[in-house]
Amino acid sequence: MSAFQLTRTLAPDAAAADLRADVLHGLTRTPKELPPKWFYDARGSELFDEITRLPEYYPTRAEREILVARAPGIAAATGARTLVELGSGSSEKTRFLIDALLPGLTAYVPVDVSESALTGAAEALLADRPGLRVHALVADFTRGIELPDTPGPRLVAFLGGTIGNLLPQERRSFLASVRAMTAPGDAFLLGTDLVKDEATLVAAYDDEAGVTAEFNKNVLAVIDRELDADADPGDFEHVARWDPEREWIEMRLRARHALTVKIPALDLVVPFAAGEEVRTEVSAKFRQEGVRAELADAGFELVRWWTDEEGRFALSLATAR
Ligand code: SAH
Ligand code: TRP
Repeated sequence: MSAFQLTRTLAPDAAAADLRADVLHGLTRTPKELPPKWFYDARGSELFDEITRLPEYYPTRAEREILVARAPGIAAATGARTLVELGSGSSEKTRFLIDALLPGLTAYVPVDVSESALTGAAEALLADRPGLRVHALVADFTRGIELPDTPGPRLVAFLGGTIGNLLPQERRSFLASVRAMTAPGDAFLLGTDLVKDEATLVAAYDDEAGVTAEFNKNVLAVIDRELDADADPGDFEHVARWDPEREWIEMRLRARHALTVKIPALDLVVPFAAGEEVRTEVSAKFRQEGVRAELADAGFELVRWWTDEEGRFALSLATAR
């Protein structure tokens, strides 16, 4: 049997129908918004990888620092034979976990909407790990996914602070669906970025080199390509703002002047007032007590909480009750 298998649970036309529904709903409401999963076509995944290497974007380095220090402990505590990773992207940090879990690890199951990210990640992992089997799933983790039948115990990982990109209500149902993937005794490893000073947070989402701006605008390129629309990225400005009440960063695209975007595939013309903004993403920041409570709500018990040396980012290990 080949060491690499890929299952597409998203029919290409289902994804297209989803995009149409999201764009129609999001651009005809007030205020306008678009869901973040549409950032991640092949170009978007590439740009995100570039973001993780920016001097201002500390979360990746902070989480890597924790993983390097704690992977052996996580492996010992969980004894996982299957590692499932949601929103796995390049799986770059995950290799520390995988290497600590091998040789007991039977299967690594990365789950992502980006097929190019999944195949690229698997290729890199398999190149120098003869014992590893990768069963990749192209799937939407907000939709409830069906996992391959691999042996337990299972460890489900959700890294990168991606949980912060879900709205509080979405987070609740997402965590419940993770609990449904696990049996009592299985484990959940969650990466969360932490509340900190505003300047550090805003810089991480508004870098000097403009990579995050390009990433944010990539959602327009996706709409132009997939729905034949005529949005000009040059007409929009990247905005990253800290909301101190909700403790999240909001990413927006702001129209530089009054304009319209034609979307023939939806039979739609979308007017923008000068300065009007589309919310494209939130990135919530967390505190330990909040994480503990949300996990408990979903049926998980927080058993370990680790941060990097500077206390910027946390990794939580929880067990299913
Ligand atoms: N885990 C990686 C990547 C984080 S970026 C890291 O820590 O660096 C978020 C990843 O989640 C991207 O790879 C994106 O393609 C994926 N993603 C976003 N929304 C998703 C969804 N609804 N379902 C599945 N994957 C999703
Ligand atoms: N999960 C990442 C985060 O919230 C995703 C991300 C980083 C992102 N930078 C971004 C999403 C810029 C949209 C725009 O940190």
